[in-house]
Amino acid sequence: MTSRKIETALVSAGRDKKFTQGSVNAVIQRASSLMFESVAQKKFATANRANGELFYGRRGTLTHFSFQEAMVELEGGAGCVLYPCGAAAVSNAILSFVNTGDHLLMASSSYEPTQDFCSKVLTRLGVSTTYYPASIGADIASMVQPNTRVLFLESPGSITMEVPDIPTIVKAVRDVSPEVIVMIDNTWAAGILFKALEFDIDISIQAGTKYIVGHSDAMIGTAVANERCWEQLREQSYLMGQMVDADSAYVASRGLRTMGVRLKQHAESSLRIAEWLQTRPEVARVNHPALPGSKGHEFWKRDFTGSCGLFSFILSKRLTDDQLAHYLDHFEHFGMAYSWGGFESLVLANQPEEIQAIRPGEEVDFTGTLVRVHIGLEHCDDLIADLEAAFARIA
Ligand SMILES: Cc1ncc(COP(=O)(O)O)c(C=O)c1O
Repeated sequence: MTSRKIETALVSAGRDKKFTQGSVNAVIQRASSLMFESVAQKKFATANRANGELFYGRRGTLTHFSFQEAMVELEGGAGCVLYPCGAAAVSNAILSFVNTGDHLLMASSSYEPTQDFCSKVLTRLGVSTTYYPASIGADIASMVQPNTRVLFLESPGSITMEVPDIPTIVKAVRDVSPEVIVMIDNTWAAGILFKALEFDIDISIQAGTKYIVGHSDAMIGTAVANERCWEQLREQSYLMGQMVDADSAYVASRGLRTMGVRLKQHAESSLRIAEWLQTRPEVARVNHPALPGSKGHEFWKRDFTGSCGLFSFILSKRLTDDQLAHYLDHFEHFGMAYSWGGFESLVLANQPEEIQAIRPGEEVDFTGTLVRVHIGLEHCDDLIADLEAAFARIA
């Protein structure tokens, strides 16, 4: 297939006739059992069970195959494994490659449950973790051990949004140990704003729960792997029982069709609001990869093709618990919830010591309260008015 523009691929990928059977969207094929018409067909399905033949529900149905094919066209690579949520994609991708005695390099600004997985599950299995800061660059070479098996990246960092110099980090690690498996939590970039596999990364992981689904009403995880890692990721994940229901796979496919325009609007609105926040005396710093001056902005500009609705800002002062509750409790358009990437705007806040607790080996460099926002698809003027009213509450 000739490579098509991303907007076209988002609309068209995975919509082969064998999946749509005459409708616009792929069929929803709910199945545990798939019926064989003959012994010969059962033999054929068994031999090709990992290559898109209907075999057993846990290997996927037409609905899954359609979404997986779409993900591979969008992100590149040899195949896509589906998981029931993003956290399952992260943990199973790692588990598929580590053995007892192995070592993992993990971004210190990675998603908190990813860190918890390292400390509460990997430790138990005898796999050790060293955390590196987003600013590490080529110095990461000195952290590679003879038993380092996985380099795990996340860009931008969770909550604090710093963008690492990924090409430099990956090259430095590969120069010491070419065999290291490089994985990234690529959720912020929705897998398309940062084409991970083109940066010598082996596995691009997403919480499809966020922008792919896009409506805060389903959960799914994806991991797209290159040729080198595809078979091991697929078979190990299969043995660990990873699968998602056909309805969620369908909802994820449907989300792809509008993801391009949604992301453009999220990006435009979030940058406008970030720029407005930067002018406010109540704000000490805005952490938005697309904003000049934000940590790693130059790497974002070089390596990414766009941004989305999630960013954070630091207030000039630390709010008391009462002030913070008064600030958060009265938004009109911003809801309070953890899972972002839907059409709706969200707000949450953390005190510096809460961020410090999830930055192993690093000192946080701010003293004010941190506010994380997800800018949804509402009109910017309404969102700015809401944020302005919130500043008035803490004046
Ligand atoms: C960066 C990132 N990765 C992974 C996840 C986990 O995704 P899920 O909620 O689908 O398990 C999240 C959820 O917030 C996230 O923000």
